[in-house]
Amino acid sequence: MIPLETAFEALITSFVENSVGQVDHFLNDDLSRHLREQLMLLFREKQMKVAGVGNNAKLHYDQLVRSDVIYWLDRTHNNPYENIFFDLMDAFVEYLNRTCYTGVTSYEFHYAYYDQGSFYKRHLDRFRDNKSRAFSMIMYLNEDWQAGDGGELVIYHEDHAQRISPLGGKCVFFKSDELEHEVLLNHKPRMSITGWLRRN
Ligand code: OGA
Ligand code: MN
Repeated sequence: MIPLETAFEALITSFVENSVGQVDHFLNDDLSRHLREQLMLLFREKQMKVAGVGNNAKLHYDQLVRSDVIYWLDRTHNNPYENIFFDLMDAFVEYLNRTCYTGVTSYEFHYAYYDQGSFYKRHLDRFRDNKSRAFSMIMYLNEDWQAGDGGELVIYHEDHAQRISPLGGKCVFFKSDELEHEVLLNHKPRMSITGWLRRN
């Protein structure tokens, strides 16, 4: 297992160098498997909800923009693996704030399930009327993702598009107000935890 601070440092270094941080095995196999099992259970029990576009008053549901379903993680669920995940995020935020003076004050994370044939069209993660989302963070929970399975994350830089395969355990990290991105059509179920580090 990679020591925590090594993984944090690798994520931050690649973020500084490429505007998009990426680390494989950010979640270890055991945690990744337990979170995936929890996500599949929530999906089977129909607890996941159609994801919206925008926030608060402007929230609407547009299946032409995105077709995933989501479920917000919360410590009050007392799920041991969600809590291990939150402990990891607490440690990361503490490390990020200490080493980069980022001033992150809170976060929010949801599970996302993209059933076969889903997508999320090109968008920016920060809302027009609420600027608190500072960083976007995505962690994939897929067991075995092949080149032909689709579902790549495409990030649009000024002069090129970067494609990222949603490999289990991988973490992707970027500024929420800068980089437009999309999720391409997937040919088999695609699972992740996606969230935002916020500054109030
Ligand atoms: C999002 C998003 C990317 C991904 O949920 O806002 O862009 O790869 N997700 O799942
Ligand atoms: Mn997004």
